[in-house]
Amino acid sequence: MSAVMVVHGGAWAIPHDLAEASVDGVKVAACEGFSVLQRGGSALDAVEAAVRALEDNTVFDAGHGAVLNADGEVELDAIIMDGRTLASGAVSSVNNIANPVSLARAVMEKTAHVLLTSRGANLFAESIGMATVPGDTLVTENERKAWRKNKNFATEVMEDFNCQAHDTVGAVAVDSAGNVACATSTGGIRNKMVGRVGDSSIIGAGGYADNLIGAVSCTGHGESILKVTLARLILSHIEQGKSLADASQLSLQYMGDRVRGAGGAIAVSPSGQWAATFTTERMAWSAVDHDGLWYGLDPNERLKEQWYDHLLPL
Ligand code: GLY
Repeated sequence: MSAVMVVHGGAWAIPHDLAEASVDGVKVAACEGFSVLQRGGSALDAVEAAVRALEDNTVFDAGHGAVLNADGEVELDAIIMDGRTLASGAVSSVNNIANPVSLARAVMEKTAHVLLTSRGANLFAESIGMATVPGDTLVTENERKAWRKNKNFATEVMEDFNCQAHDTVGAVAVDSAGNVACATSTGGIRNKMVGRVGDSSIIGAGGYADNLIGAVSCTGHGESILKVTLARLILSHIEQGKSLADASQLSLQYMGDRVRGAGGAIAVSPSGQWAATFTTERMAWSAVDHDGLWYGLDPNERLKEQWYDHLLPL
């Protein structure tokens, strides 16, 4: 069984000045996750490592670099799920944790619950000794400027997701034992209402992983993804015999037709097939499989990187 790692850096109209950094960021995160798999780590370890790398990169809307809500604060959502047991953990509306994906994993492993929100998530982080950071340190100067410029246009921003939003990171992996996992993390949509929770922390919407079918991480307009439970919808099509690419395309098309929502998804199967699909203008994605490192940004783009061996430490 050969291991596979796939990551995305968010589906939206990525502007030219962020394109190169977005592609570089997903490649590095995919290699980070794949090196965990190469060292014998589990799919769960790999998706956490990859998403942490994306959360630490200020070009993406997750952890450092998150967008601001209507009150000018960060509110972060994340989920992680283990396809072996269907165990999952999630946090929503946390504002002082640099790597919410790791807090989500702690919810999964150290509590009897699936989702902790806001103050409760912070109290839990404190109780397990997880480092907290002042929320302001997660905010970039560019985001402050963009927030000031757009703060009177919250409604338009929410309605024109493809043009304005800056959305979500995620990872899916299959390890050499055929176990799958997913993780998704986001700052959500700029100017969202205080307390708004999108799809990213919601099981079956922002992500789902089941060893019997595969793993999916979603990105895009959260309210639309929630309405069609996008991750589980994609897996249902796979369960019924569709290829990963067809299942993702059909489900995204359905979301577009039914609720006018745009987005993207990455998927892996326990046998090592994978897909990266989107209906927004762009989505930065990267995959590492037995054949090399793949990446893309524009529709139908599927490029292969020559320096793959050089980047991987093993
Ligand atoms: N997809 C991220 C969000 O809408 O919050």
